[in-house]
Parts: sequence; structure tokens; C-alpha cells
Amino acid sequence: MALQVTPLAPCIGAEVSGADLARLDGDQFEQIQHALWAHQVLFVRDQPKLEPETQINFAKRFGPLHFHPAAPHLDGYPELFVIYADEHSKVANGNGWHTDVSCDEEPPLATMLQLHTVPETGGDTLFSSMYAAFETLSEPMQNFLCELTALHDSEHIYRGRYADRGVDDAGKRYPSAVHPVVRTHPETGRQALYVNPSFTTRIQNLSSDESRALLDLLFRHQQRAEFQVRFKWQENDIALWDNRCTQHLALWDYWPQTRSGHRVTIKGERPVYRAAPNEHRRMKLSRSSI
Ligand code: SIN
Repeated sequence: MALQVTPLAPCIGAEVSGADLARLDGDQFEQIQHALWAHQVLFVRDQPKLEPETQINFAKRFGPLHFHPAAPHLDGYPELFVIYADEHSKVANGNGWHTDVSCDEEPPLATMLQLHTVPETGGDTLFSSMYAAFETLSEPMQNFLCELTALHDSEHIYRGRYADRGVDDAGKRYPSAVHPVVRTHPETGRQALYVNPSFTTRIQNLSSDESRALLDLLFRHQQRAEFQVRFKWQENDIALWDNRCTQHLALWDYWPQTRSGHRVTIKGERPVYRAAPNEHRRMKLSRSSI
């Protein structure tokens, strides 16, 4: 049976209906994959609460899973990251623009999150298209960025972050990696801006002042509202996003309410930049051609 895919914003995001993710046949799974590459983030409502095995098995259809270097997981399920914030929380996960774990040498390809408890108001997640961010830059700036690499670090993010949830990270080393500033999506061939304010600390081969100024400019540009879609969660909704061409921000505006769920990430490949003809670099509002 064909699924319905309804775009939610010009650059990014679609809602999928008619899907029971626990029971997709091969053809429907291909439709989901195709929709994800085209729309970058998918939202699926009206799902039952997924058992850990069911969520893990669905995610494994995309490929092997990724293991988070820092976050608390469900007992017996090291690949399942428990998202949780309540009145006692000192931090809430994802409360700053980022792409998941870009500090890894092979950052996650995609992430699947189901929220089980949602606040009465607030707790939305915003997603931004890094294709749109790249494609709206001037050609000289695109050419300049395509030659650059940047350091993605995580010590400043993860050290002690989950102590209040029982994670003791004494003696642990957190990852860092150098990635191209522009990465080519292996499925679509499109170029995406691949720096983010949470993990990217330095552009290589520039002076420290130049690096700071350029990163500030890119971070401001990436956060333009017209590149975004904003998702308002209901209980058991699922979001599935492609980390290779998006960033997201989970708003922590709901304290002291509780927000919780389960997140699974799929292992990705080392980001690479491949030169593409200039006509592939202009802003495309229509996603139907992918
Ligand atoms: C995250 O995975 O960064 C958190 C997303 C969310 O809680 O909405």
C-alpha cells in the first residue's frame, strides 16, 4: 500500500501517513527511505508506543546502529538513548543547534526518536536544512568553503553532562574529528553545509580570528527561519531525520514539565566532499525531483 507523504515546509520536512512502522513491507520501507532522502526529516503520528526491540529492528533496516559515546541508555539496550528531562534536570538533551554526534569519525546517518511523554505546551523540535543553507550562499563563498575542513569536538559538551543521570565519565576520552565544511550527500549528490555551533570549534588552516568570524557567520546563516520546519509533538509521535543534511534544536522551554522518549541512531559513513557542477548548487525549493 502506498504511504502518503505531505511536505510541511518549502525546504524541509514531511509528514508520513498510512504507515505502521513496526510492520512495513519492503516496498513501503523503500518509500520511507526515498521520502527521507527527499525531505530530510519525516514525522509519523498515531503510532503505538514501540517496544525497544521494535524500534531497534526498524532502525536496523537502514543499516548497522550507532552507539552514543556519552548518553545514558536503557538497561540491556546500549544502542537505545533515553531522552529525559523533568523538574530536577540541569540540562536537557539537544537544547542547542547541532547535528547528532558530528564529533565522531563516522557520525550517525540518521536518527529515529519516539517521544512517550510530552509536555502540555512547549518541547517542540526545530529542524533546519543544510542543503538550503549551502545553496543560498554566494558562489565565491561556496567555492571557498568547499576547500575547508573543520574540527568537531565533544569534550566541552559531554564531560559531566549526564552525571545527574548516573553516568560516571572519569577517565573517559570523548571523540573529536575533522570533517569537510561542505559534505556531499551520498544518496542525493547534493552539497550540505556541515558545521554546527555545538560541536564545531575551529576551521582548519585559518587563523583563530578568521575561523571564529567565519563560524559565527555560518552559524547565523544556518539558523535562518526559512530553512526550517518546527515539529509540535504528541504522545508516541516519531521523527526520523537525516543527519547528513540537517541540524536540529530541541527547545527546553517546558521546565518543570517532563519530556521523555527513546532515540536510536543509525551508523553513518565518514563525511566527504565531492565536487559537483555549479547548477547543482543553487537553491531548489521543489523536492519532487529527487
Ligand atoms: C536530540 O536528539 O538531539 C533531541 C531531539 C529531541 O529531543 O527533540
